[in-house]
Amino acid sequence: MRVTMIGAGYVGLVSGACFADFGHVVTCVDKDPAKIAALEKGDIPIYEPGLADLVANNVQAGRLFFATGQTEAVRSADVVFIAVGTPSRRGDGHADLSYVHQAAREIAEAMDGYTVVVTKSTVPVGTGDAVEAIIREVRPDADFAVVSNPEFLREGAAITDFKRPDRIVVGTEDERAGEVMRALYRPLYLNQSPLIITNRRTAELIKYAANAFLATKITFINEIADLCEKVGANVQEVARGIGLDNRIGSKFLHAGPGYGGSCFPKDTLALVKIAQDADSPVRIVETVAAVNEVRKRAMGRKVIAACGGSVSGKTVAVLGLTFKPNTDDMREAPSIAIIRALQDAGASIRAYDPEGIEQAKTVLDDVAYADNVYTAIEGADALVIITEWDAFRALDLDRVRALLKTPVVVDLRNIYPPQDLLVRGFTYVSVGRPE
Ligand code: UGA
Repeated sequence: MRVTMIGAGYVGLVSGACFADFGHVVTCVDKDPAKIAALEKGDIPIYEPGLADLVANNVQAGRLFFATGQTEAVRSADVVFIAVGTPSRRGDGHADLSYVHQAAREIAEAMDGYTVVVTKSTVPVGTGDAVEAIIREVRPDADFAVVSNPEFLREGAAITDFKRPDRIVVGTEDERAGEVMRALYRPLYLNQSPLIITNRRTAELIKYAANAFLATKITFINEIADLCEKVGANVQEVARGIGLDNRIGSKFLHAGPGYGGSCFPKDTLALVKIAQDADSPVRIVETVAAVNEVRKRAMGRKVIAACGGSVSGKTVAVLGLTFKPNTDDMREAPSIAIIRALQDAGASIRAYDPEGIEQAKTVLDDVAYADNVYTAIEGADALVIITEWDAFRALDLDRVRALLKTPVVVDLRNIYPPQDLLVRGFTYVSVGRPE
């Protein structure tokens, strides 16, 4: 099959490379000539494990192509994916659909023969209808169907998530389009991945409901962690104790500094707006978004408390800046609010992250960046672990103890057994575990 991806961002590039790996012929189109030129040279603009090799192999095999103009790529395609950005609109939290609508217009102008147009970007319920109306208006004669096919990729694990999905969701009532989507995903559902075909609006809502539910799970365990600290319970054991109940499930119950990233914060807010507009408010999700927002700065106060109530004039070493490990993505990272809270309280920050420093420089001011863990720690008054990169899980604790001016460690991801630090004389504070 011939597949065209409009948007060679995170979703477009990962999905495009994976479809090519299944044997489809894929063209990834992006308006940014610098991005396309870089991709053609084999430079991948994002950090995602395995992606560079997957792209290189499929380019070499003659199945993956890049282009700045979409006319040719759309004309010859059986399936065209819209995988452009849907940022939060400034001011009101609604998803900004201008890129999606623009893509729909351009696809309409170029399409030739029966074409399945698929929205892969996370889009509000009813966007598929709008895309269909736009295409129909531009090309009243066109032979096409608009399908919703939300993605469920996690950054850092995107290729595995694509190739071994828990489910594939396809929203269409057009039988022919359903067949095309089945053929496209055949390598996956032959491999036992369930394929759900439902109507378009349901598929659109599944994506928001899934992300909002996961955000709720995280926020729930974070509040239970706070309660654990007050009543002397251990949140990891509570999570295990409830997670073994199959109805609850053990995943996404890691307490921490609050969720970040390009999806949960944006999608929860968008769902709140969609629901308000439909006069059917989702009050739980409204609360989740609000609780998560205040949590990030509260983590700054937690660090200050661990430092004896003041960080004024002190140096705080921060390990981990990205919103989670195995990515260079800083969007809505809890580290931003935590570092700002510490700076507002008079601390100097020295930070290290394995992949995120370049991105961090674009959002954080007045941070000194170290080139490894131990230079970040040297002479600091406290160490704060914000992101659980594997490289931070087995630090030489005796060396850390020797390098820190005062042995204070705040572990916001619970990656150490408290005893390992307490026996070495550290003041050790984690999340929801007895000190
Ligand atoms: C999320 C979803 O997991 C994907 O299924 C979805 O496709 C994607 O959003 C999207 O909508 O595009 P992602 O944002 O890449 O993926 O990252 P997650 O692994 O879900 O983590 C999100 C945030 O929650 C991170 O800040 C992470 O540290 C935090 N988290 C996650 C916790 O604090 N505790 C947990 O137990 C799990």
